[in-house]
Amino acid sequence: MAEDPVGTGGTDEVTMRLWRGDETGGSFTDYVMPSQEGEVVLDVIHRVQATQAPDLACRWNCKAGKCGSCSAEINGRPALMCMTRMDSLPVGEAVTVAPMRAFPILRDLVTDVSYNYEVAKRIPPFAPRAKTADEEKVGGYRMQQIDVERSQEFRKCIECFLCQDVCHVIRDHEENKTAFAGPRFFARAAELEMHPLDVNDRRQLLQQEQGLGKCNITKCCTEVCPEHIKITDNAIIPLKERVVDASYDPVAWLGRKILKRNKRSPAEAAATSPATGPAAVQPRTETNGIPAPEPATAAAAAPGAGDPSPG
Ligand code: SF4
Ligand code: SF4
Ligand code: FES
Repeated sequence: MAEDPVGTGGTDEVTMRLWRGDETGGSFTDYVMPSQEGEVVLDVIHRVQATQAPDLACRWNCKAGKCGSCSAEINGRPALMCMTRMDSLPVGEAVTVAPMRAFPILRDLVTDVSYNYEVAKRIPPFAPRAKTADEEKVGGYRMQQIDVERSQEFRKCIECFLCQDVCHVIRDHEENKTAFAGPRFFARAAELEMHPLDVNDRRQLLQQEQGLGKCNITKCCTEVCPEHIKITDNAIIPLKERVVDASYDPVAWLGRKILKRNKRSPAEAAATSPATGPAAVQPRTETNGIPAPEPATAAAAAPGAGDPSPG
């Protein structure tokens, strides 16, 4: 045992306040654990499983911040359990861990994130243009590095869905799930729209069926992204500008005609999606029946997490 274990205010114990329950309801249960230096929240959850609650459900895979499986709400803030160090949390207070509030609970800390996979099916996929005669000769496409770089940031996404969880448009309004793709999928759409070879035009689809206009640029999604993707500044705002271009700017329209930048029409692009129409909405009880964190911990939460007006 370390002399002055971190994250415990000099005590040698830490209280883990974990959500236990399923879709019918549940509550927080306290587990008092010996503290150990250098641990992350997932380590302590595993020790709770090993010593006190072998039936505690928790999803994880890599323990390296790369698989996106261990998303949860730690002291009210959406975060990865495997990347949240115990010594980064308030000293001497219970550590609250709850499942993501925006998605239906399966059991304990595990939620059903299949809504996101349904949304993913509705994004028209990458569709490269035909090769030029020169490119056919060399057997590959030619692109400017600067054009490739713009969309590369979005490829760092690990699909943890923390940004989806924090976004008030779906977190607080279940009914919006049928008509709002969410920040992860705006980033995906931006990645494809900005790809120099892609010919699908997703702009009208984003505006008319995927709720781009519902985003009010609060940047909560950017704040919780473990990959530090600037979702709002680099994906959502440029997409909003492109939508305006497509709908209202005759000069931009003329420019595209002159430059012969041939994109597929929105209808043709939509027809290439694996699925069309609104996403299937999973039933969810309001706020998943999880009470807000204690006032002290709620104050420490990021905007959009566990408070009445996130996003
Ligand atoms: S900026 Fe705010 S409203 Fe827009 S997608 Fe991100 S969290 Fe949602
Ligand atoms: S954009 Fe960031 S927060 Fe959203 S799913 Fe990808 S990695 Fe997670
Ligand atoms: S276990 Fe893979 S991201 Fe946390």
